[in-house]
Amino acid sequence: KRVAVLASGRGSNFQAVIDAIAAGDIPAVCVGLITDNPRAYAIERAKAAGIPVTVVEYARFPSKAAYEEALLSAMKSCRADLFVLAGYMRILGAEIVHEFSGRMMNIHPALLPAFAGLHAQRQAIEYGVKIAGCTVHLVDEGMDTGPIVVQRCVPVLQDDDESTLAERILVEEHKALPLAVKLFCEDRLEVIGRRVRIR
Ligand code: GRF
Repeated sequence: KRVAVLASGRGSNFQAVIDAIAAGDIPAVCVGLITDNPRAYAIERAKAAGIPVTVVEYARFPSKAAYEEALLSAMKSCRADLFVLAGYMRILGAEIVHEFSGRMMNIHPALLPAFAGLHAQRQAIEYGVKIAGCTVHLVDEGMDTGPIVVQRCVPVLQDDDESTLAERILVEEHKALPLAVKLFCEDRLEVIGRRVRIR
């Protein structure tokens, strides 16, 4: 399968996918990185792995619609079977979501449906939950609402702050995301309504 990744920052989840593909764990080739941030460290990771990079920078477009159109065309050019949102910090428009419906996934650093949106780890700390984690889900029109593919959990410790919890969750993200990509690439995901069955 052809996998393309969208990332805005550090790209450690992107790296986890690159590594799993290189190790032969995922039957796929990573065909491109698309980023909205020309300073994203993910770009260095792509270069090191020989993966083509496309920058679609929001600020360079006169309107949201123009940005979305450029992003859609960059995505189409990848001719990817699967698009992976790995720390992509912009909400995708309905047209893009529909175009790639069923073949776009996102990683979120919380056990959805709890703590959708920004600063999920901080939300978890402030709420006082004792278990936190991450979710890989298919992308639908909502924010962090699509069918759940993989979740992994971690304890929240007494003295955690946002950053210690984020660090513990990140370790699990790096397992959850490659696993979800692998399951997709092996054609093992079956979506029945909201529920994802793994064959
Ligand atoms: C991760 O915590 C991911 O769940 C969230 O943004 C962060 C991205 O980290 N959506 P990285 O860029 O993959 O290192």
